[in-house]
Amino acid sequence: MSQAFDPSSTPTQPQPQVVSRSEVIFSLNGELIRAQASDAPLMLADFLRTRRNLPGTKIVCAEGDCGACTLLKAAPYRHSAKPQFLPVNSCIIPVASLDGAQLVTVDGLADQTTLRGQSNSSAPYERKGLHPAQEAMVKCHGSQCGFCTPGFVMALAGLVEKRLERGDTESPIEEKEAKNALTANLCRCTGYSPIIEAACSIDLKTCSPIRSRFENPALQEKLQKAILSPLHLRAEEFEYYAPTSLESAGAYLNQNPSAELISGATDLGVVHNKRKKRLKHLLSLHLIPELHQITRVGKSRLRIGAKVTLSEVRDFVKGELIPEFAQFLDLFASPQIKNQATLVGNLATASPIGDTPPFLLVAGTTVQAYSVSSSGQIQVREIPIESFFISYRKTALEPGELITSIEIDIPEKGEILRLQKVSQRKDLDISTVNVAFRLHLDPQTRKISKPRVAYGGVAATPKRISSVENLLQGKTPDTVDLDQLAEGLHSEITPIDDLRSSQAFRRVTAENILRHFIQELAQ
Ligand SMILES: Cc1cc2nc3c(=O)[nH]c(=O)nc-3n(C[C@H](O)[C@H](O)[C@H](O)COP(=O)(O)OP(=O)(O)OC[C@H]3O[C@@H](n4cnc5c(N)ncnc54)[C@H](O)[C@@H]3O)c2cc1C
Ligand code: FES
Ligand code: FES
Repeated sequence: MSQAFDPSSTPTQPQPQVVSRSEVIFSLNGELIRAQASDAPLMLADFLRTRRNLPGTKIVCAEGDCGACTLLKAAPYRHSAKPQFLPVNSCIIPVASLDGAQLVTVDGLADQTTLRGQSNSSAPYERKGLHPAQEAMVKCHGSQCGFCTPGFVMALAGLVEKRLERGDTESPIEEKEAKNALTANLCRCTGYSPIIEAACSIDLKTCSPIRSRFENPALQEKLQKAILSPLHLRAEEFEYYAPTSLESAGAYLNQNPSAELISGATDLGVVHNKRKKRLKHLLSLHLIPELHQITRVGKSRLRIGAKVTLSEVRDFVKGELIPEFAQFLDLFASPQIKNQATLVGNLATASPIGDTPPFLLVAGTTVQAYSVSSSGQIQVREIPIESFFISYRKTALEPGELITSIEIDIPEKGEILRLQKVSQRKDLDISTVNVAFRLHLDPQTRKISKPRVAYGGVAATPKRISSVENLLQGKTPDTVDLDQLAEGLHSEITPIDDLRSSQAFRRVTAENILRHFIQELAQ
């Protein structure tokens, strides 16, 4: 377990002046890259294609939806402390955000050294230089067009890497596992069968990790040393600051109130690509190691740092801690998005249809808001989740405040937690309506206590439904008046008509989920 991080314990003394770097540093297929400030606002996929002449990575949707731009990224700091190559969507990650990372693209996937050694081989399918994912795609005729194939290959390489990192090489890749790993990869000709077949044909026992192939202590030392200094980039109409301490981040935000926090960029990258807003002035917390931590606070709470990704949260809470939340996160976006997106980013974006806010609303969440005043005074404010969402996409954060972490309850044994999402398709879709229920059901009396009910997609903000909670308190599920309950729900929600659904559909769905849940409890 990592060391507990307490934002209020940050020293108030002025920090010594540290020299900032003006270049983004990362490794690309084993080569050390120093990107200039002028290239920093580019999305990674554009950078690869136009600045590095690496056209293997494709750009199709440019909004994280199709997987064509998938590559593997090992972030410098992770909750698990071990860098791991994970698939991400390069079309929505600005180059600036790659600082300290190691990348492998489809162009670097084949092992060129062995490939050269095998150039005279006469066996058509024994191309030892290819990565097992590439080899399998060749053998099973999984490669159909040049737009989608590189992304599929990289997503499969990510799956192989995950299994190797877990040391799980005996059991073959199952069809379901392959489909889950390829959730984010679209094939426009719908030729999925040979791709799934390719995935399942990979013999993991013969695979070696990409991590060990690109292991280069000298290069890694350079990266690790570099990211101990802050990064400050200034180009035409672009400024990006990534400090190495929380205090510097707070002071910068105080002096630059127009600067916008950037985390995984899975919201901001899309907004930028759709030209709804240009990312001009950004503050990143990625060089602050303690913000990458999840820690236990006593027996019953978890503190999740602002830089913890959704994949890391899922892996941490699955099993005994909050298995319902882990399962719910399986329906969140795709592996590529979850490897990059943060839980705090999902909260801070304050979307009424964000998937985690209903859970956070029933999980006793508190938000740690941090700021540094003009006189250098550090302020840490605990915002209860009930007062965090103010109005449509507006939060209780004051100008100059940033979120360092959130704290959530670990539900007690026997407590019931139910999380549900309704969307037009199961995978990689934003919710139409989402719901979280949490309550105690006394095993003897069957009485409900401490009920908490929260909805998303039914109002301008995610919200608790207090009338439903009041009606449930103290009742047994079979004595709850379902019509009265539905009436209470409708009196508190104001869904809208939009592209995803009509207002009527949202009302009916919200009511049906509630009725169904109580009926299930009664049984
Ligand atoms: C293809 C695709 C599928 C998606 N699917 C889903 C889905 O199924 N469910 C869902 O809910 N969302 C989904 N999203 C939205 C998105 O992935 C999430 O909202 C994500 O959690 C945002 O986190 P991030 O780290 O990428 O945030 P960013 O994009 O970096 O930032 C989001 C917002 O949070 C603010 N912010 C970030 N960190 C802080 C901080 N420390 N303090 C204060 N403000 C901060 C930023 O300023 C910004 O306004 C999807 C997005 C894409 C592209
Ligand atoms: S190009 Fe479609 S996900 Fe990046
Ligand atoms: S592989 Fe590209 S359309 Fe099917």
